[in-house]
Amino acid sequence: MKFFLDTANINEIREAAALGVLDGITTNPSLIAKEGKPFKQAILEICGIVDGPVSVEVVSTDAGGMCKEAHEFAPWHKNVVVKLPTTRDGLKACKCLSQEGIPINMTLCFSPNQALLVAKAGAAYVSPFVGRLDDISHVGMDLVRQIIQIYKNYNFKTQVLAASLRHPLHVVEAALAGAHVATMPFKVLELMFKHPLTDRGLEQFLKDWEKAKKS
Ligand code: E4P
Repeated sequence: MKFFLDTANINEIREAAALGVLDGITTNPSLIAKEGKPFKQAILEICGIVDGPVSVEVVSTDAGGMCKEAHEFAPWHKNVVVKLPTTRDGLKACKCLSQEGIPINMTLCFSPNQALLVAKAGAAYVSPFVGRLDDISHVGMDLVRQIIQIYKNYNFKTQVLAASLRHPLHVVEAALAGAHVATMPFKVLELMFKHPLTDRGLEQFLKDWEKAKKS
């Protein structure tokens, strides 16, 4: 399972890269806007740190505009993956750009039918948004499970990127479901390795070691 960080914050990305478990980054216009840097500069800085796919999202809503933005972003760095919304125009753009060899991450996926369509259009990744479905009282992880089953049935190559993950249990559930990738905020990554018994156990070992040294 690959771990992507869902952020454009350079400090968080550096810290996660130092942990040695970071496989890529997903950004979106909201995350980029939070950092207050010029767009291209923000993406290039990220690409300089992470040796893996970096999703860069378009803001056009028509297929022509999406393709134009994709052609602008793709040459920025070999690891750029273009992120398109799962709309009618997004689907058209996905087909053309995938055929050209530009890897596409189809974002804002909220149904198995949308996932089926983007796989047929050749997307490299589909991003089902788990947390946002949970927010409206739908079990978001059910969507991840359904997509994985459908893709298995037909041997689609599109990777399932579990997105909008809000807590460590989401990561466990995505892993159990067999998601290829989990993208998570930095705080979720940090919570993954925290356990009170680890802390307490380590504290006790160190205390005992101090006593042993004195005897
Ligand atoms: C995925 O690529 C999105 O950027 C992200 O997971 C959205 O998460 P949110 O619902 O917490 O904003």
